[in-house]
Amino acid sequence: MNPAIGVCYYPEHWPEDWWQTDARRMAELGIKVVRIGEFAWSRLEPQPGDLQLDWMIRAMDVLGQHGLKVIVGTPTATPPRWMIDKHPDMLAVDAQGRRKGFGSRRHYDFSHLGYREEAARITQILADALGNHAALAGWQTDNEYGCHGTTYSYSPAARDGFRLWLQQKYGSIDALNHAWGNVFWSMEYNHFDQIELPNLLVCEAAPAHELDFRRYSSDQVSAFNKVQYDILKAACPDLPVIHNFMSRYAEFDHFDVGQTLDIASWDSYPIGHLATSNEPDDIKRLYLRQGDPDNAAFHHDLYRSVGHGRWWIMEQQPGPVNWGQANPDPLPGMARLWAWEAFAHGAEVVSYFRWRQAPFAQEQMHAGLLRPDSEPAPGYHEAGQVARELAETAIGGVANKGRVALVYDYQSEWAWEIQPQAAGFRHGDHVRALYSAFRKHGIDVDVLPTSTASLAGYDIVAIPALLAWTDELRAAIGDFEGHVLIGPRTGSKDQNFAIPARLGPDLPQNQLDARVIRVDSLPAGVEVPVKGGGAARLWREKTEGGAEVIMEDVEGVPVLLSQGKLFYLTASGDRALIQRVADYLIAEADTPTLALPAGVRCRTRNHFRVYVNYSSGPQTLAPAPDEAGYVLGGPEMEAAGVTVAKLATAGRD
Ligand code: GAL
Repeated sequence: MNPAIGVCYYPEHWPEDWWQTDARRMAELGIKVVRIGEFAWSRLEPQPGDLQLDWMIRAMDVLGQHGLKVIVGTPTATPPRWMIDKHPDMLAVDAQGRRKGFGSRRHYDFSHLGYREEAARITQILADALGNHAALAGWQTDNEYGCHGTTYSYSPAARDGFRLWLQQKYGSIDALNHAWGNVFWSMEYNHFDQIELPNLLVCEAAPAHELDFRRYSSDQVSAFNKVQYDILKAACPDLPVIHNFMSRYAEFDHFDVGQTLDIASWDSYPIGHLATSNEPDDIKRLYLRQGDPDNAAFHHDLYRSVGHGRWWIMEQQPGPVNWGQANPDPLPGMARLWAWEAFAHGAEVVSYFRWRQAPFAQEQMHAGLLRPDSEPAPGYHEAGQVARELAETAIGGVANKGRVALVYDYQSEWAWEIQPQAAGFRHGDHVRALYSAFRKHGIDVDVLPTSTASLAGYDIVAIPALLAWTDELRAAIGDFEGHVLIGPRTGSKDQNFAIPARLGPDLPQNQLDARVIRVDSLPAGVEVPVKGGGAARLWREKTEGGAEVIMEDVEGVPVLLSQGKLFYLTASGDRALIQRVADYLIAEADTPTLALPAGVRCRTRNHFRVYVNYSSGPQTLAPAPDEAGYVLGGPEMEAAGVTVAKLATAGRD
């Protein structure tokens, strides 16, 4: 599909006699795709069984008359008030045992099977009524699974579902007791009906109990999505089913949900995401009006992987948002830059959120492409510019295969939240730190799940802070001929959250002769310098074995070990150490790099390399040897500028 821009539209928010003008203006701007409907249940079914879909069909007719393609969202993130009368116990329960209330959104419990049936019912109704509409181009399931902390519920429905799930997983209570280590503290159960959820305990639950609850909760999200996917695919086999995921959000396994999606999408709000992240204050200030230069890109690459190659931005920040502590105005040009960056990483569609700023309710301070008075806001002009530039450059194709791959794993995110050992030790932080270190050199990076069976074609694969090996990944690194960087903490547990017999990183001696025999964890702010530059922080492992020492800290503790092409990092590093380690691997693997100015990043797609300037001042690009001139912009980049170069040779696939 040729890359296109889209917009999120809420016809139910506006008088019907505005729809024609809105649709005409969208089409004139170059918009091709419009997402509608994802919160409209109270207008589609105002009373139980009173279905009113005609307005939705009329809205689709109007959009279709202007050549616009429509994505219909199932409205299951916002069940109407009457639904709560029907199923009072469908409201989720928080970890303190309090039931959540109606009056905002996402007020449902993934474990509530009665609500799951209601979700299936409305999905079937939409599929039947709209499935043949000429303007329909696909479906979005629900909206942002898990947003506002809604993946976990500590309700009776969740408890009952969890017990059943455990019974299916373990078969016998003895097997569960063994797997969880319940002999410790006399936690052994006699039967599955005694098991409770891991909240409101005196102190922490067994880590395997907690991890299984997270796995169970994740499975409920996948099951909820699958119900809708199956209905929509049965009704419209040729139309894609999409879900819109989020940034830095890891409460359920997105790769699993991706099994019942045709396209993954995510909602990119770079400024709000930086403001609410754990990035240091200097970075937050430096990129206040741009967002973190690597965060959106990381998620583009992650969701490309979740979507098996196909992905969209379903919601793109168009201007200031409303949900940060402060909500700065983006630098002029950022709404264009973010879209171009997404296309560079292979997006098929970038859809701005939203068409017109709503003057009422929760998001009245959130910008749209139009102001509340229907006049263009700055994002409107930038979106139009992107549409024109896409037509002119015709970048087509798909994102090229990266030279570096990073393994990202949701269970490892949960594991180190459950047992940080050093407060602040996170799997995702290790993955993102390496991602930035490679990307700063202009290297294309891919993100892979632990189910990856082959690593062929990559120069370097990095697997940091992984809870436990999967059989696939063990086999894949055994067969891989490139360079591998693992650790810290990788392979330090088995799938039951227990320390493996051979100790971490749990690899055979002929692969890596190193065992982690002690961990020295440090409070935030304490660092141990590494000889040659950088420092260890939060986490230091002491190892024994015969692997070669490449770097060590000032206390003589090995920091980077190697055996053949396998490298093991024993510590969490500060930025400087992670950059040094990445640079070392790049040199060993002889991976080509670019000299990028500060704040400039790039990615290749098809025959093109797209440069984006996240810095707040102008930057000058050095000519790259594999390029044959520019098709958009040039070497002099303004703040928030975009330059597209043509590659002299075809991209990697
Ligand atoms: C997203 C959500 C939208 C809207 C938007 C505001 O998380 O999907 O419905 O709330 O944020 O930035």
